Amino acid sequence: MSTDTPRATESLWLDTAEATRHPALDRELEVDVAIVGGGIAGLTTALLLKRAGMRVAVLERRTVAGGATGLTTAKVSALQEVKYSEIAKLHGERGATAYASASLAAVDRVERIASEEGIDCAWERLPAYTYAAHPGQVDAVQREAEAALAAGLPVTTTSETPLPFAVPLAVRLDDQAQFHPVRYVDGLAAAVAGDGSHVFEHSGVAGVHEGSPCRLRTLDGIAMTAREVVVATNYPLLDRGLFFARMEAARSYVVAARVRGPVPEGMLISAGSPTRSLRPHRDGDEQWLLVGGEGHLTGADEAEPERFEQLDRFAREHFDVVDIPYRWSTQDGMPTDKLPYIGPYTPLSSHLCVASGFQKWGMTGATIAAEVLCDRLTGRDNPYADVFDPNRLTVRSAPEVAKAQWWVARHLVGDRLTPAEAGSADEVPAGEARVVRSGLGKVGVYRDDGGAVHAVSLRCTHLGCLLHFNDAERSWDCPCHGSRFDVDGEVLAGPAVHPLARRDLH
Ligand SMILES: Cc1cc2nc3c(=O)[nH]c(=O)nc-3n(C[C@H](O)[C@H](O)[C@H](O)COP(=O)(O)OP(=O)(O)OC[C@H]3O[C@@H](n4cnc5c(N)ncnc54)[C@H](O)[C@@H]3O)c2cc1C
Ligand code: FES
Repeated sequence: MSTDTPRATESLWLDTAEATRHPALDRELEVDVAIVGGGIAGLTTALLLKRAGMRVAVLERRTVAGGATGLTTAKVSALQEVKYSEIAKLHGERGATAYASASLAAVDRVERIASEEGIDCAWERLPAYTYAAHPGQVDAVQREAEAALAAGLPVTTTSETPLPFAVPLAVRLDDQAQFHPVRYVDGLAAAVAGDGSHVFEHSGVAGVHEGSPCRLRTLDGIAMTAREVVVATNYPLLDRGLFFARMEAARSYVVAARVRGPVPEGMLISAGSPTRSLRPHRDGDEQWLLVGGEGHLTGADEAEPERFEQLDRFAREHFDVVDIPYRWSTQDGMPTDKLPYIGPYTPLSSHLCVASGFQKWGMTGATIAAEVLCDRLTGRDNPYADVFDPNRLTVRSAPEVAKAQWWVARHLVGDRLTPAEAGSADEVPAGEARVVRSGLGKVGVYRDDGGAVHAVSLRCTHLGCLLHFNDAERSWDCPCHGSRFDVDGEVLAGPAVHPLARRDLH
């Protein structure tokens, strides 16, 4: 890798939103509903519950919208790559129809919330497309058009798209939307805080005990009691409910390019690999183009800066790019049976719910989750509750569950046998990381550009898998369930809640 190869920066969204800050929880508190996680799922759920008359508290480990929500491409669309073909295969017509109508309603719901709460989030209605990038993807697009139509979406097929290159076929759904996700979620947080409800930042939750009432404890040891708890931490934080065997974490990369001249008047995504996801963004007189793609499972060796280069190249090849100031990456939970997990945490849970598994489509998915959970906690029927129930039995996904378990077993046992990559910390070049064997086992050693050594245990604090270095973002990532740690061991993404042990190699 060349030393000029660009690595991750902050996201465009986080850099262009006013920083609104919320206090940390510093005293014991009792509320009706405690919500763990301050992304779009947690805060939309909190808002709907507050509107229903409940006292809610959102507990966020870092800052509101600082997780996947601040790093998304923020298309708010019911047409989602080739989702309906996949869902129909696993869940039949009922699953696909429910997902389509819940997703369409979610687009309208986001628009309504933004308008009712007066949130200036650059909301814009645009058509969404899934396009065949080459003739080999035409069948997939055709199948998706048929599955989406059967599910009730008014899609059309066309070979006319707003792309600056010809495509053999695309499926189009009009009247979908895009927005600025951080401004939206900051607006949700402002609407939640006050009148007996709260948003707490820097208030990571270490554990939840389900009971009457439920008890939560923060990493700082402060207790909260709540009648109900919703876990909306992206990957579920608690080691129960078997999510760890039925959901993988997968990353994708995004670049934001300043562009001269026209950008596509639509949101587009290719119907297969290599994924290229595009959307425009306007900021004053400036035209921006976001290009996403290059996905892989978290903790895999492919987390390289070259991922950004591939997206840069695509943008420059097809558009008149001025510069590319932003490059970032994030991840989402990918359920083995392709539907989000929304509802009771385990089959026996009465007061503990989860919202997760949005498969890189959480702007609508999280909004569906908020509706389903609000109905459940206020005693109303929801027509989709059974479809999204986390404890559904999708027998046909069993091979996928076995595959996920095999993957975890390999990283728990097999990887421990791989040799160390450097004999000592002295051999680690500046800006790079190596695995060094020491008396304490394997140590992850990163030498920063200034020459200082950062050494941490390589055992994930979640369930002990061996971490891999992510060279694109300079972090230690877990291949088992997607936890991520910075080079000093602080948690960047869960399900882990505790930092890595630091190692002193001298
Ligand atoms: C590259 C990429 C592009 C995407 N583009 C789109 C798109 O165009 N359209 C779309 O619909 N979806 C998209 N998605 C998916 C979407 O971004 C996610 O589904 C959505 O943001 C998930 O929201 P969330 O609230 O579940 O998670 P998050 O936003 O990650 O929020 C979870 C929060 O929980 C907090 N947390 C974690 N552990 C704890 C703890 N122990 N205590 C307290 N807080 C904790 C985290 O800090 C975090 O802030 C994309 C995903 C990726 C990877
Ligand atoms: S995230 Fe589960 S073992 Fe690392």
